[in-house]
Amino acid sequence: MFWAGALILMTVMVGLAANGVRQIRRGQVTAHRRSMSRASNLVVLFLLSYLVKRVWIGAEDLDPWSQTALANLWIHETMVAGMLISGGSALYRGRQLARTRRATGSADDPPAEPAAIRKHRLAGWIGVVASALGLLTACGVLAQIFSLFG
Ligand code: HEM
Repeated sequence: MFWAGALILMTVMVGLAANGVRQIRRGQVTAHRRSMSRASNLVVLFLLSYLVKRVWIGAEDLDPWSQTALANLWIHETMVAGMLISGGSALYRGRQLARTRRATGSADDPPAEPAAIRKHRLAGWIGVVASALGLLTACGVLAQIFSLFG
């Protein structure tokens, strides 16, 4: 049950991130920020629920898992780690961008450094792609877990 809920949460999170990219491409900075912040909040919610699950229920028994299922799990965990690190960096840099003319459109605010924009976009894209690949491999993880209960 826990992992089915986690997959639903991750699907909503990836949907918000994809919407956030669509919004910034339409010049909708506030909507982009809102979507990406909501996606980040869902990631934090997942991490907290995972900690509770680990303390309360413990870790999954990986002994019956096939080599292929274990390889998929490790790829999944690597994508999730990439999403956390790069997405976190994009959020931090996005909050800095939020104070610049690039986000506010106001001449009263300082212009954004081109390097700051480049780094935000790069971290953002790595975060978004890693989250999508994390979702894809999560489907394989859930299929493996269900197959053990089948
Ligand atoms: C405080 C939150 C955020 C703000 C204010 C913000 C703001 C912006 C702005 C102004 C741009 C356009 C940069 C340009 O090309 O001139 C941008 C692009 C982008 N942002 Fe954010 N961002 C935020 C959070 C995030 C997060 C958390 C992610 C992903 C994890 C993200 C992913 C992206 C991506 C992928 C692009 C490039 C889109 C493209 O290729 O056109 N942003 N963001």
